[in-house]
Amino acid sequence: KKRIAIMTSGGDSPGMNGVVRACVRMAIHMGCEAYCVYEGYEGLVRGGDLIRKMEWHDVRGWLSEGGTLIGTARCMAFFERAGRLTAAKNMILHGIDALIICGGDGSLTGADRFRAEWPSLLEELVSTAQLSEEQIQSYKHLNIVGLVGSIDNDLSGTDATIGCYSALARICYAVDLIEATASSHSRAFVIEVMGRHCGWLALMAGVATGADFIFIPEKPREDNWREEMCAIVKQHRKLGKRKTIVIIAEGALDREGNKITPDMVKDLLADKSGLGLDTRITTLGHVQRGGTAVAYDRMLATLQGVEAVKAVLEATPETKTPFIAITENKIVRRPLMQAVQDTKQVSAAIEAKDFDKAMGLRDAEFAE
Ligand code: F6P
Repeated sequence: KKRIAIMTSGGDSPGMNGVVRACVRMAIHMGCEAYCVYEGYEGLVRGGDLIRKMEWHDVRGWLSEGGTLIGTARCMAFFERAGRLTAAKNMILHGIDALIICGGDGSLTGADRFRAEWPSLLEELVSTAQLSEEQIQSYKHLNIVGLVGSIDNDLSGTDATIGCYSALARICYAVDLIEATASSHSRAFVIEVMGRHCGWLALMAGVATGADFIFIPEKPREDNWREEMCAIVKQHRKLGKRKTIVIIAEGALDREGNKITPDMVKDLLADKSGLGLDTRITTLGHVQRGGTAVAYDRMLATLQGVEAVKAVLEATPETKTPFIAITENKIVRRPLMQAVQDTKQVSAAIEAKDFDKAMGLRDAEFAE
């Protein structure tokens, strides 16, 4: 029987448990044995009981659980070849030759590297007498399939990453709560949201809550953003709005590439010689990432988990590592490294302050 292992890696995201549940059950349904690697890559390196066989009932009720029940970790050892060598050995000792990984672009890049190195890792395991030629016989190729679990929605090549809509829903809920008290006191709130170098959460939250103003990394405001923001807020107040909501992505930048901080925005809104608004800052933090997944993420996790098992079973040694995407509402397989490279191009453009290019690349993603 083929043994397929499932692992979550990097920052957790709502829906990861749905992924594990779907992969475990689909693997069993297809006549395979399902394994979970606990604690991300750490589990592969440490082996032992961190690699566990899973039965159908082991994942019962997991769709409605937040976080990742099999744990995740940022594993330094896996960055070193020695760590990957031990990981390969552990996989073979457990009889596993296929791996499904749910994580962000960093975790998935690590996975592809592991796959590419696999033959040389096996060679080394034999030449250093850690395993025999016979033991590695049926493990000549490692099949890897990626699933993108991240609240940031920052990977090119897919319309949504697993978890992003849950985080967005949480942000909207939090902004609704804040709006009530903002309105009571006629206050302004600067709300910082997550997303690392990606402005998707801030942009969509701005649209979904009708925020007065937003800041995102990909499209910094013109140099006169201070005047622009104050004029818009003033206008909204003039129209009778008793609350002001400014949403700022944690990676927000100005055109010089300098960070725009919530404090800078607050000082401006509160400036007595200008708007003079009673202003507070709320950093939403990890409440955006924890908690249960919304229906969309549960659906995505389930359909993509099923597709990931199919992709593993259909892979040949020539298959480029795929990841499972959703584009225009269809679950599809795409080359993983292409998506990682495209994502890196956006980050590089932002770093080089070539914001038109960054926006162009993001637009192209959605136009695809
Ligand atoms: O990638 C998910 C994310 O939540 C980002 O939005 C955020 O920048 C980062 O992880 C926070 O990481 P940590 O939980 O390690 O502080």
